Amino acid sequence: MLCTTLVRVTWTSSAPIDLHRADGGLGVPSSPGTEAPFILGCTFGGTVVALGSDRLSGSDSASSHLRVGDEVFGFVQDGDARQAGFQEYVTVPAWRVSKLPAGWGMREAVTVPCNLVTAFHTLTADLGLALPWPRPEGWAPPDGAGDKVVLVWGAASGVGMYVLQVLRYWGYGNVVAVASAKHHDMLKGLGARVCFDYRREGVVEEVLAYVEGVEGAGGPRVPFIVDCIGSVEGTLRPLTKIAEAGSKVAVMMPVIRIHAGKDQASELESDISKVLPEDWKKGVEVKATRTFFYMKNEFFKNHLQPEIVPALMEQGVIQPNKQRVVEGKTMLERAQTALDLLRDQAVSGEKLVWRVAEDDA
Ligand SMILES: NC(=O)c1ccc[n+]([C@@H]2O[C@H](COP(=O)([O-])OP(=O)(O)OC[C@H]3O[C@@H](n4cnc5c(N)ncnc54)[C@H](OP(=O)(O)O)[C@@H]3O)[C@@H](O)[C@H]2O)c1
Repeated sequence: MLCTTLVRVTWTSSAPIDLHRADGGLGVPSSPGTEAPFILGCTFGGTVVALGSDRLSGSDSASSHLRVGDEVFGFVQDGDARQAGFQEYVTVPAWRVSKLPAGWGMREAVTVPCNLVTAFHTLTADLGLALPWPRPEGWAPPDGAGDKVVLVWGAASGVGMYVLQVLRYWGYGNVVAVASAKHHDMLKGLGARVCFDYRREGVVEEVLAYVEGVEGAGGPRVPFIVDCIGSVEGTLRPLTKIAEAGSKVAVMMPVIRIHAGKDQASELESDISKVLPEDWKKGVEVKATRTFFYMKNEFFKNHLQPEIVPALMEQGVIQPNKQRVVEGKTMLERAQTALDLLRDQAVSGEKLVWRVAEDDA
């Protein structure tokens, strides 16, 4: 792997995957001799302090956009000791680096990359929706897809808020969002046509009644579904009652059987075929979303983080998630407090961000 960019990290953000790693052991090697260290952090934001010589040989086509002193941020692979975001210096390939756009602060920017990349990957790789870049003049989604229902369950999550904004920009206009009622106005502002409250008993019936009334040209009433949470009882079971033959359901992995708690280890499932196999209707395509593999799409590898993400931010297409700054005397304390907030399920319509190096950016 090319490692072209050395960055001094000033800000990062925490995500549920940190809890899945810390409390659920997800993907953390545990056989003797392989236990540690596993450095957490899927996001970094900071200043370029050096560029590797492979950049000068032109072997990394994405690196020409970077200079020492640039303020940059990106989505990286946690557990990789060079890249993981919860450390003061990271060394990352240039294709994982976005330059901070004009008008943005680093604190806002670190809310974006992990979940915006997830939105692109989910909508294209798992749901097969077209998101051409640059968006052609007069673009409309093909085959009437712009009028088809896209159901975003868990729309107030970090993933959900970026999914809505990407769908809006590319003209997918019939977006149904499911989230707590307190977020509905905000979600309509991000592109949801209609919102339902998952805390209400009859939410499934309410969604079905809405889609029943949508003019369609045959096919499933809800052809596209993004499960932004992946909880067996919280999201997947209700979705089994909505999806029908021809529906595609993209599920954020891992699936949560039991959420971590103070005295409760989490129980996670990495094999989607083992989740409610008897409950899905015949002909429903259930897809396991795994954004860590987004670079298999060569175009996205070379263009998503270096070009598309900062362009959408600069143009105002993408608004940052609301930030909740996690305080603490040391980096360890901040990281730990963020984990506690995730464990307590205290994150709602916002992103946990915190300072890594002590000086501001
Ligand atoms: N596999 C992948 O590629 C991938 C990529 C990114 C994330 N993920 C996973 O996706 C999940 C979400 O990540 P995130 O960072 O977006 O999480 P997050 O922002 O921390 O999620 C918090 C939100 O979840 C919502 N929520 C919880 N239970 C819900 C339910 N039953 N129905 C609807 N909404 C519900 C809450 O909504 P309210 O505020 O409305 O109550 C809250 O706002 C995590 O498990 C993460 O690991 C997977």
